[in-house]
Amino acid sequence: MTSLQDDTSAAPAAPFPTGFRWGAATAAYQIEGAAGEGGRGPSIWDTFCRTPGKVLNGENGDVAVDHYHRFREDVALMSSLGLTAYRFSISWPRVQPTGAGTFNSEGVDFYRRLVDTLLEAGIEPWPTLYHWDLPQPLEDKGGWPERETAHRFAEYAAHVHDALGDRVRHWTTVNEPWCAAFLGYASGEHAPGRRDAAASLLAAHHLLLGHGLAVDAMRAKNPDNKFGAAVNLYAVSPATDAPEDVDAARRIDGLQNRLFLDPLLLGRYPDDVLADTERFGFTPPDADLAVISRPIDQLGINYYSRHTVAGTPGEAAQTASSPFSTHSPWVGSDHVRFVPAGRPVTGMGWEIDERGLHEVLTRLHREYPSLPLYITENGAGYDETLDGAGTVQDAGRIAYLDAHLRACHDAISEGVPLNGYFTWSLLDNFEWAWGYSKRFGLVHVDYATQRRVPKDSARWYAGVIRRGGLPGRA
Ligand code: FCB
Repeated sequence: MTSLQDDTSAAPAAPFPTGFRWGAATAAYQIEGAAGEGGRGPSIWDTFCRTPGKVLNGENGDVAVDHYHRFREDVALMSSLGLTAYRFSISWPRVQPTGAGTFNSEGVDFYRRLVDTLLEAGIEPWPTLYHWDLPQPLEDKGGWPERETAHRFAEYAAHVHDALGDRVRHWTTVNEPWCAAFLGYASGEHAPGRRDAAASLLAAHHLLLGHGLAVDAMRAKNPDNKFGAAVNLYAVSPATDAPEDVDAARRIDGLQNRLFLDPLLLGRYPDDVLADTERFGFTPPDADLAVISRPIDQLGINYYSRHTVAGTPGEAAQTASSPFSTHSPWVGSDHVRFVPAGRPVTGMGWEIDERGLHEVLTRLHREYPSLPLYITENGAGYDETLDGAGTVQDAGRIAYLDAHLRACHDAISEGVPLNGYFTWSLLDNFEWAWGYSKRFGLVHVDYATQRRVPKDSARWYAGVIRRGGLPGRA
């Protein structure tokens, strides 16, 4: 395969540190397909996709972008971009079809082959153990609101680590516990589609507990490996400085950011969030916090946008931008409205605000110091088609990535220990409740033929990697 890297011999105007990881991210259910192959069991997303009205156009991940069969071609694509690391997720139901008991060696072998292929290409594998595809039999037993699920997760994590821990150094436990808990169990926009506020808070707690138990289990096997979680953080601003807006911002920041960061990094839940959610009977056992806050070696940050919120006493809670929801994932934040702040938006309707990323990074450095940070997702989704020349001129994505990488560069210059950046996503893929309608890839995929065509942004990103930083501003 020819290299996508342009001639970038000139020194970058905004250089990144030597050893900075340049990556791209994907997730199993979104790309693998082969849902009925290789001994894989059913996941909650298989079930959810078959529930009428849940996913746009009734689409599903049965085939997705067929990465299960095309992973070698995809690793070659990564090489042509010059990626130094690749973040992917391991499908729990592929490795342990019922989520308990017997493991499926065929599933483990798939990831072993993927990892070996990456290593041969000089690309560091960065697996995530849970990117939302819970084995359906575990949901049938109560899912994440059940404590037992956290123990099952740790057992699965230890098994995968046994198989790959000799060649995989950086491990991410759970991806975006906010989404898994609140979109999955409160608003029902994501699998398993439940709408139960009390259950969603328990799910959040058990995702965190599962993270801590998994870190313990894996670290016991190899203390030299690096362990962490990936959280989706937002910058949050009040619409005005009126007290009700400032309080709305506190509550949303509490649920989006601090509900996860404080237990993970400080070993306690924020008092104000506990007070806001008290009426749902959320009383997590103190003893769990010692496990949840086991020292981690890295924190993954998924950043897309900023929330601007207003307090609206008397009105019901509203969700940010989703047309799918009638229930709110903002459990305990009644009378909050998400307001547009007038910034340009991506094809998802998400406001573009790279300063929010800088804000998130500098805040982490200030409030939770000395923790090695990685951007584990950042990117822009659009409705795109190949043009007449057979390519995608995705100037909007290039501008988005450029602006966010400049924000990262600024943060690093100010002393923030940011060590890598994984753009979401390597390939167009199944975008959850949006089906295949939104494309986030550097590489376009024709879903009918599975043909991969690098977009302009792929060439641009390859240039950044080759240069080791950003070009001067145009
Ligand atoms: C994140 C998810 C990822 C992808 C992006 C657009 O919330 O982790 O799988 O869907 O959003």
